[in-house]
Order: sequence, then structure tokens, then C-alpha cells
Amino acid sequence: MNSNLRIAIQKSGRLSEDSLSLIKECGIQFYNGTGKLKSESSNFPAEFLFLRDDDIPGYVADGVADVGIVGENVVVEKNKEVTVAHRLGFSKCRLSVAVDRSRDYHGISDLQGISIATSYPRLLSGYLEKNGLRADIHEISGSVEIAPSIGLSDAVCDIVSSGSTLMSNGLKEVEVIFRSEAVLIAGQKLDAGRQGILDKLLFRIKSVQAARNNKYILLNAPNTAIQAITDILPGMKSPTVVPLAEPGWSSVHSVINENDFWNIIDSLREAGAQGILVVPIEKMIL
Ligand code: PRP
Ligand code: ZN
Repeated sequence: MNSNLRIAIQKSGRLSEDSLSLIKECGIQFYNGTGKLKSESSNFPAEFLFLRDDDIPGYVADGVADVGIVGENVVVEKNKEVTVAHRLGFSKCRLSVAVDRSRDYHGISDLQGISIATSYPRLLSGYLEKNGLRADIHEISGSVEIAPSIGLSDAVCDIVSSGSTLMSNGLKEVEVIFRSEAVLIAGQKLDAGRQGILDKLLFRIKSVQAARNNKYILLNAPNTAIQAITDILPGMKSPTVVPLAEPGWSSVHSVINENDFWNIIDSLREAGAQGILVVPIEKMIL
């Protein structure tokens, strides 16, 4: 019996490229020719199904796929029986209400009684209800941004990422109703074999994410400054300190987080660090 883990990813769209690069960075190889809807990995017990993102939660809930990579916006909207196994941190976007650029907008109460076109009726109605508002929701499945200009609705509620789609349709974003990123979802009932493969996949994904968020740092410092410098550097355990050929000097190696990168660099320089090198990490096994 075929016991590959079946992984659904978006066929084409905002998530596809980042989903594919994550899989690649996990060292999982497969052939991804144009128009191919299914592909088996040559070096990992998995096969990939290339689907429309909107269909992914349903396929995972029904067991057609075991797991899927999809936007949280779609997961919440579709409300299928799936769980978020891991947050992936890419394809960040927001679901927002937008109106014609020339329309006067004073605040959320302006949404009362207007018509709003969206592919996200569940998220939108939940938001309106929470704010004690009623609006006329027009559900449409694509090209939502065109609705106001053809007289279909007063406003739209759609995904905004760079904002260029809104801009080119003469719309302005007025309320953010949901913030989203890509997530790995799983169905309810994986057998032990597939659960084992999923655990391996998650371990690889976490190593890739940790590596992306961290940098390896090397610097030189006089021995008198080493204590101050090692106090600044957290490292995975504690920094490595090795003597340089020049007496009284050492080299310090450690791992630093991308988030407070520049603050750490500034403090290190103030503490006496010289010749600082920062290099990317390929994989980080925690
Ligand atoms: C969303 C939305 C816009 C676009 C916005 O589509 O419908 O078309 O992204 O991005 P921008 O702010 O960078 O211009 P999505 O990727 O969710 O695809 P789909 O609606 O076709 O599934
Ligand atoms: Zn979609």
C-alpha cells in the first residue's frame, strides 16, 4: 500500500512560490513540471497535490490530502475539520474592507447598511456582527476589486498583500478585519506511519525556520572585553571563545536572532568587538 504523506499545496498564486521554496529547503525533491497536478518525491515519503488554495481545507478534511499549506484566511473562512499543525510565517497578508478612493470615510460605522462584495462572507459577517453592524454581503468568487467600479457594491472585503491590486482599482483600505499567514494544516486521523512522516517534515520545517531567523556571528576582541561581549551574546548554549595568534586577543563565535540584530551589533562594537562577520545559517538543528 502507498503510505506516502500527501501534501496539498497551491497550484499557482500568492502562496505557491514560498511553499515550494520551503519544501526545497527541507531537502525534499520532486518534479514540478507545468500543468502537473500530482508529483511524488524522489527522496522523501511524500507526494504533492497541486490544488486551488480555496479547495485545500476541504481536501484535507476529507482525507484526500493528509496535510496542506494554505493561508489562514482560507482555513478560517472554509471552517472545515482541520487543525493548524504549524504556523509558517510567510505569505503574510490582511483581509480588509476597501472603498472607492474618492468616497468619504469617517469610521467603521460608515459600513452600516452598505453593500460589500467579498469571497470571505464568513469572516466578514463575523466581523460586522462583533461590531454590531449590518451590511449587505455579496459573495463573489474572484475579481472582487472590480465590484465598486461596475456598480455591484459600495465596498469590497478582500486580501491585501502589497496593496497594488487595490491601488490599480482605485480603492483605499479602510478597515483590517483579519491578519493572516501561511499555515500547515492537518486532517483529523493520520495513521501511525503518516504521522511519523509528518513529524519528520515538521522537524525539518522548524530547522529551516530557525536558520532563517538566526545568523552566525564571528568577531575579534581583546581578552579584557570578552566578558562584556559574551554577556551580550546569547548563543545556542554559550558563545565559543578561541584564542587568536596575537597574544591578548580572542575570537568569539555565536548565533544571534535576526529581530534584534542591529541592536546587538551596536552593543558589541561599543564593548570593543572588531572585525565582525555575520553569515547566514543553512540549517539549524535544535
Ligand atoms: C488576493 C486578492 C488580490 C491580491 C492582493 O488574491 O484577491 O487579488 O491577492 O494582493 P496585492 O495586495 O499584493 O495586490 P489571492 O492571492 O488570495 O488569490 P485568489 O483570490 O485567486 O485565491
Ligand atoms: Zn484562492
